[in-house]
Amino acid sequence: MSDRPRLLPLLGHGGGRDPMTCLYRCGNACDHPVPNASANEYLGDVVRAGVTRRGVIAGGAAGALVLGIGAGEAEAAAKRPGEAAPAVAQRPGALSFRPIPPNTLDTVVVPNGYDSAVVIRWGDPILPGAPGLDVRRQTAERQAAQFGYNNDFLGVLPLGRDGTRALLVANHEYTNEELMFPGFTGLDALTVEQVRVTLAAHGMSVVELERAGRTGRWRPVRGRRLPYNKRITTLATPFRFTGPAAGSSWLRTAADPAGTTPIGTLNNCSGGVTPWGTVLSGEENFNQYFVGGDAVPAGLKPRYARYGISTTQRVPDGSRRWDRAQERWDLAKHPNEAHRFGWIVEVDPYEPGARPRKHTAMGRFKHEGANVIVARSGHVVAYMGDDERFDYLYKFVSSRVYKPGNRRHNLTLLESGTLYVAKVTGDSPAAEIDGTGKLPSDGLFDGTGRWIKLVSGDRSFVPGMTAAEVLTFTRLAGDAVGATKMDRPEDVQPSPVTGKIYAAMTNNTNRGVGTYPGVDEANPRTANKHGQIFEITEDRGDHTGSTFRWSLPIVCGDPADPATYFAGYDKAAVSPISCPDNVAFDRAGNLWIATDGNALESNDGLFATPIEGPSRGHLKQFLTVPPGAETCGPFLTADDRSVFVAVQHPGEITGATLDNPASTWPDGDYARPAVVVTWRPDGRPIGT
Ligand code: FEO
Ligand code: CA
Ligand code: CA
Ligand code: CA
Repeated sequence: MSDRPRLLPLLGHGGGRDPMTCLYRCGNACDHPVPNASANEYLGDVVRAGVTRRGVIAGGAAGALVLGIGAGEAEAAAKRPGEAAPAVAQRPGALSFRPIPPNTLDTVVVPNGYDSAVVIRWGDPILPGAPGLDVRRQTAERQAAQFGYNNDFLGVLPLGRDGTRALLVANHEYTNEELMFPGFTGLDALTVEQVRVTLAAHGMSVVELERAGRTGRWRPVRGRRLPYNKRITTLATPFRFTGPAAGSSWLRTAADPAGTTPIGTLNNCSGGVTPWGTVLSGEENFNQYFVGGDAVPAGLKPRYARYGISTTQRVPDGSRRWDRAQERWDLAKHPNEAHRFGWIVEVDPYEPGARPRKHTAMGRFKHEGANVIVARSGHVVAYMGDDERFDYLYKFVSSRVYKPGNRRHNLTLLESGTLYVAKVTGDSPAAEIDGTGKLPSDGLFDGTGRWIKLVSGDRSFVPGMTAAEVLTFTRLAGDAVGATKMDRPEDVQPSPVTGKIYAAMTNNTNRGVGTYPGVDEANPRTANKHGQIFEITEDRGDHTGSTFRWSLPIVCGDPADPATYFAGYDKAAVSPISCPDNVAFDRAGNLWIATDGNALESNDGLFATPIEGPSRGHLKQFLTVPPGAETCGPFLTADDRSVFVAVQHPGEITGATLDNPASTWPDGDYARPAVVVTWRPDGRPIGT
């Protein structure tokens, strides 16, 4: 890596993220006390008896999982074009691309032999008749018909059976007003209409795509009839609550006395595609959008504070003041409105008229996303992370079983089930975990874990909390049962090939600092700047079970740093990686990792590594995004011919504005968040 291009100065805090991103994305969460101040021990004596070290899940189990992910959909698609994802089939394949070097170039960089193109960008029209982006004439009405801002999660679902059409579903996590409005002088100076623009720029988009010829390149379908194209906005889209907390007193408001119909979805970060062809999306840093938290009932303030809502200031620093456009964002007047965000939402892109849902059975926290797998028993299991320093890992097991081809039934699976939180322990002596990242004497950061039941159906397992309370204040339930405080759990996804689960722990610079909790074997580095990958192997390959083994196959950073680990692979052949955020798999089961907040003086990017066999840990960088951006998505199509990434917040560097941008990607004028597709002109699969 001697040919590193010019380096940008390091501006960020909390990993390598720029302060401007910290302000707009999460309301400067890193500058506030960690919301988890619970006395909950973070390294317990979890059951060790009866838990044996296991290797990969038995072949039979893996086979069943592979079938579970797609077989039903092939069946369904026969009746109904595009209902679902094609079956996942294992293929042999090494990752043969030449890694790209770390860099700070203002472009998307891909390996030699690959090509890339913008698919769609902020402000592009997606509803018929919508205008293109004109930043000087932007209105909420226009924005609500255009692709939203700051695309994060991407799902690409097949439409029809011939592989030429697809539906792109994207999250729009947050807005950066400084980079959206010309002549920006401050958030308080925005007009009410501009505030409404930002509400309309949040949410999700569904966009019909077509393949360009027979290549791996995709582009939006243009035309007057676009029946699937849709915007879901925070401004106005009605949702429906499902599950045990729907209609509870915690969710009722003056505008919705039944507590069943929240308006909009908020701060949608990552997500997943279900086997029945819907998209799940996580509502993450919803806390930062409210004012009036100082006036909520005193006895309830701890519940708000646990979610990062300020209970001392009427207007928190950096507030977008959405209450100027809609009164519901003022908790002094509508204290329950905050409880109507922080859920997993499910969107059916094939039914544009279907009301999207928020599933209370899956709990409320700062949801990064959710990814499901069908267990051998047929139950659907969703794995989820709560993206905050010292917060928890969760899983949800449906009460009903998946029925291949019965879409109407499968659409109900996430409405009822059992919610668990993870408690993990190491198998090495605590004295061997010294905070430097040095491996313990058994050669691995690893151990055992237990899924602690919080609620099942409408029965609570947390003393003193009703089921509706456990689901609405899930963080407090996790505190009460002694869940393990992790280093910011981001995307959590099961491998469709092995059934093992991979969770990105992005970083935690507070770990072991001052009075904050110290290191443990699962979170082994003090002031963890670079993050790690947490691998879960469910005991007996049973995703519905309550015990597992875990290890850290990758401890991120510069491979020259002895505090890193790449599954024992030769570090000289490994690319530097920092702050893993989103994970995905190709058909061979290789693990793809996108980063957010690179603290190694390079732009963020996309990496891939085999995660089984002798090349486990041979991590290589596949792509970088422009300065200021994080790499989101990623999504590999089922044929492995295309990899989509979301370039989120390009040019988001303190001091930049629309008029004086820090990045001019993608069009040479100012920065626009956009979706990019990468493919091989020679037609061969990505990565191999
Ligand atoms: Fe929006 Fe957890 O990153
Ligand atoms: Ca160990
Ligand atoms: Ca994320
Ligand atoms: Ca993912």
